[in-house]
Amino acid sequence: MIDKILKKRGVPSLMTFLDGSKVKNAEDFEKRREELKRIVQEKEYGYIPAPPDDMTLELLAENENFCAGKAHRREWRMHLTVKGIQRSFDFISVIPKSKTPVPAFVLMNFTPDSPDKYLPTEEITDSGFAVFSFHHSGATTDDGDFTTGVAPLFTNGEREPHAPGKIAMWAWCAMRVMDHVMTLPEIDKDNVAVIGHSRLGKTALVAGAFDERFKYVISNDSGCSGAALTRGKCGETVEVITRVFPFWFCPYYVENQASFLEEGYDQHFLIALSAPRVVMIGSAKEDLWADPESEFLATYLASEAWRALGKQGLISHGEIPSPKSVLDGGDVFYQVRFGTHYLSREDWGEYMRYIKKMMNKSL
Ligand code: GCU
Repeated sequence: MIDKILKKRGVPSLMTFLDGSKVKNAEDFEKRREELKRIVQEKEYGYIPAPPDDMTLELLAENENFCAGKAHRREWRMHLTVKGIQRSFDFISVIPKSKTPVPAFVLMNFTPDSPDKYLPTEEITDSGFAVFSFHHSGATTDDGDFTTGVAPLFTNGEREPHAPGKIAMWAWCAMRVMDHVMTLPEIDKDNVAVIGHSRLGKTALVAGAFDERFKYVISNDSGCSGAALTRGKCGETVEVITRVFPFWFCPYYVENQASFLEEGYDQHFLIALSAPRVVMIGSAKEDLWADPESEFLATYLASEAWRALGKQGLISHGEIPSPKSVLDGGDVFYQVRFGTHYLSREDWGEYMRYIKKMMNKSL
């Protein structure tokens, strides 16, 4: 049933090198990974910038007795220098008090607050996780202005065809928060997730693809140019997204949107870049703009990468899952719940449950 649907969509093969030869084993996949990285950067998001020359942290505020005294909340400003240019952005850390290192989330969010409607901080810390979060627009505004926040670190106003768009820049900021996370003895560094919803779910996939320190890559309701297969997708299309949000991408994606079908790739290439780590894709039944079926299909297709690397990938039932389904039997996770476009308590609950399951597995 799934294969029939995929046949109709005419999807490019993840496992075929640009010269037409096939990926046959794990070693081949590592070579293919370099091609995949080039493809998604050159054609869609732009090149992810190198780490900064210098980075310092300023503590703006702290509360040692947050959440009934069970967690430590700090507000930070990160100062970054690239080629003599200095910029900064703010983030918040909330770390539960614990005798042993705790797993953590790096969340890109739509507001600077923690907690916030998409960020149930107390539920997260009570479940034993730390959470580091930042406001995407605080890092650089969610518009075509490339003079705000960190953007001038990477561009002097001229945008080359493969220059990073805002998604690549937010992903870069998530990596910088991860630089800080990696210095903290309170954190279990082998168990850090990057997570985002919608446009920031697209961003989480990019951050996870290019930063292997993120063990879990969680993309919630990310839809077009995120976890959803573009070919045959309903709701938002590449034509629409590049018209309304051209600044999220590199100029090449925008200029070539009409010939997307000839570009020889689709979104499962991006998801596959998180292999063999743990990828988690979440959909919502009524989120037809994002298209749950296409999010599932790209996850299903990307799974080939995990199998090439000797992992299980997604364990599916051979059908398009209907709500509520949680496919958590393998090392690729997919869920579809009832309801609309949202990063809900229910989503967080499933993600935390699965991470705990995977952590026990590797102990
Ligand atoms: C718009 C956009 C989507 C995006 C969403 C969001 O709906 O078309 O691609 O995912 O905003 O980020 O909320």
